[in-house]
Amino acid sequence: MSQTAPTQDELKILVAQAALKYVVPGEYLGVGTGSTVNKFIDALAASGIAFKGAVSSSLASTARMQALGIPVVDLTQVERMSVYIDGADEIDPKGCMIKGGGAALTREKIVAAQADQFVCIADASKNVAVLGAFALPVEVIPMAAPEITRRFKALGAQAVLRTVNGQTLVTDNGQYLLDVKGLQIADALFFENTVNQWPGVVTVGVFARQHAHVCLLGTAQGVQTILY
Ligand code: 5RP
Repeated sequence: MSQTAPTQDELKILVAQAALKYVVPGEYLGVGTGSTVNKFIDALAASGIAFKGAVSSSLASTARMQALGIPVVDLTQVERMSVYIDGADEIDPKGCMIKGGGAALTREKIVAAQADQFVCIADASKNVAVLGAFALPVEVIPMAAPEITRRFKALGAQAVLRTVNGQTLVTDNGQYLLDVKGLQIADALFFENTVNQWPGVVTVGVFARQHAHVCLLGTAQGVQTILY
C-alpha cells in the first residue's frame, strides 16, 4: 500500500495540534504570527482549554483570535507568561531562529522576552544547519534604511526594502523592513548583538537571546520534539 508524504500544510496542522499540550490552563499565553500559528490559533479556539487570555504578537494574530472568540490581552497588563508559541523561518541546531517572514519580528521578540519558554512550531523545511538561506528580516527606522543597507553590503550581503503590491511595507510599528540575502550566520548571538547596535535598527530577525527552548518539528514520520 503506497502512502503519500504529508504536505507542508498538513505538517503545519500536525505541529499546531501538538502545541496544545503546552498551553497552561488558567494562565496567559503568548501567541506568535504566521501561517503555522494561524493553524495553532484555529486549534486553540476549538480546544476548549480554559486559559486566561492570549498576548498577541501582531495585529493579524489579534484579529484572527478575536474573530474566533479568544480573549486577547495587552502585553502591558501581563508581567510573565510561562509559554510563548510561534513559528520560524529557520531554526538551527541550538534553537536559534530567523523570524520576521510575516513582518511581526519586533512584537514577537518583545512578547517572547516575557515568556519562560519559547515553543517553536515548524515544518521540517525550517530546520537548517546554519541560519541565512532565508533572507533575514530587519525592522528599521525609515531614515536609516540606506545606511543600514550599506552596512550589510560591506558584510557582502544584499538588503532590499520589503514591498507589498508595489508599496513599501509599513510594519505594525510604523517602520520599514529590510530583507537581507547572502548571510551565513554561524554565531547567531554575536550577529544579533552586533546588528542590534547599528543606529536605526529596531529589531534584527535573529532570535538567539530569545531562542526556542522546544521545537515541535513536523516531519513525514510525525512530530519530532527537539529540546535546546
Ligand atoms: C512572522 C514570523 C513567522 O513565525 C515566520 O515567518 C514563519 O511563518 P510561517 O509559519 O507562515 O512559515 O516570524 O513574523
